[in-house]
Amino acid sequence: MSDVVRLGMVGLGGWGKNVVRSFAQAQNCQLKYICDASPKSLEQHSKLFPQATPTQDFQAILNDPEIDAVSIVTPAPMHYDMAKAALLAGKHVYVEKPMTLQSDHAQELCELSESLDRKLMVGHLLEYHPVVDMMKKRIDSGEIGDIHYMYCQRLNLGVVRQHENAFWSLAPHDISVILYLFGQEPDGIVASGECFLQPGIEDVVFVNMHFPDGRMAQIHVSWLDPHKERKMVVVGSQKMLVFDDMQASEKLRIFDTSAKVDAGPVNAIQAITLRHGDIVLPRVPATEPLMIETQHFVDAIRNNTTPRSDGRDGLRVVRILEQVDQQLRSLPKTHRIDQARRKVA
Ligand SMILES: NC(=O)c1ccc[n+]([C@@H]2O[C@H](COP(=O)([O-])OP(=O)(O)OC[C@H]3O[C@@H](n4cnc5c(N)ncnc54)[C@H](O)[C@@H]3O)[C@@H](O)[C@H]2O)c1
Repeated sequence: MSDVVRLGMVGLGGWGKNVVRSFAQAQNCQLKYICDASPKSLEQHSKLFPQATPTQDFQAILNDPEIDAVSIVTPAPMHYDMAKAALLAGKHVYVEKPMTLQSDHAQELCELSESLDRKLMVGHLLEYHPVVDMMKKRIDSGEIGDIHYMYCQRLNLGVVRQHENAFWSLAPHDISVILYLFGQEPDGIVASGECFLQPGIEDVVFVNMHFPDGRMAQIHVSWLDPHKERKMVVVGSQKMLVFDDMQASEKLRIFDTSAKVDAGPVNAIQAITLRHGDIVLPRVPATEPLMIETQHFVDAIRNNTTPRSDGRDGLRVVRILEQVDQQLRSLPKTHRIDQARRKVA
């Protein structure tokens, strides 16, 4: 392989247009192909990236021996087939989240990438967010104390999707960050959700996770909420962290706040001390997470290192998505949409 990673970019839609720009700017990366099924999209992107060969044919990229890696930013149902074909063609693969729609497919891709010695990286963008990076460092240093629990809220009015529920659409990022910060997989998951807008597609989902050492995490996702929220809160025995991604700046607040049970209590209530300290707004680098993520993939190939969000990370996330799905399918539904439709009729 040359010192430069020669890359083919597949999928130039709503998210792909950001990813392609980021790979085009990455150091030691040469954007050699842009690929999309839509001629209109290809034409638009050809003007932006004249150095890349436009094609509608994904296979043409795989057939080119000069290509080292592909970036797959197509709809989720296509990820498995495309990533598998690319690995079998000897290419390193970046694939968007969710890595696949089934955990056996994700497992197969991991095994393929390992046996073929090709990098497989999943677009768990928030693992590359400078705020999450700072949260991880503060947690691992012990500054926050023992982590009791964390919760994530990803709420908005819309975008309502037709082919996946709100959890598959929004929660992969939250799951990946929880697993990254906790360094553990949950030993218990309880999910509830409802379909208020479309039959069989949950627009509101709550998931509670329990971890082997007693920590807890909750994810709340919704397309049916008056507020746009992108929030993660970590509660530790010494300090608490609030990552509010809706803030233009000062996205991370560190609360020097805690509750402690003193030794030798007279009774349980008297023994609890509440401490309200300073609120610190640390300076977080303003680097765009997507630039960090794409550069990380290029560097992993060049330096032969394992990407942070490798295939195994993608597999852990898909396993949780699948478990939540199984629970949601097994819940009795109130069928409020059907009832509402009958009333209208
Ligand atoms: N990491 C993030 O923050 C983030 C954000 C948004 C979306 N995503 C993920 O990115 C992926 C794409 O989402 P999107 O919103 O860009 O979807 P999109 O529908 O806007 O774009 C998909 C593109 O793929 C193209 N395509 C479809 N089949 C193709 C084929 N066979 N060959 C070449 N191109 C083909 C389509 O023409 C379209 O341009 C999804 O997996 C989604 O979950 C990730």
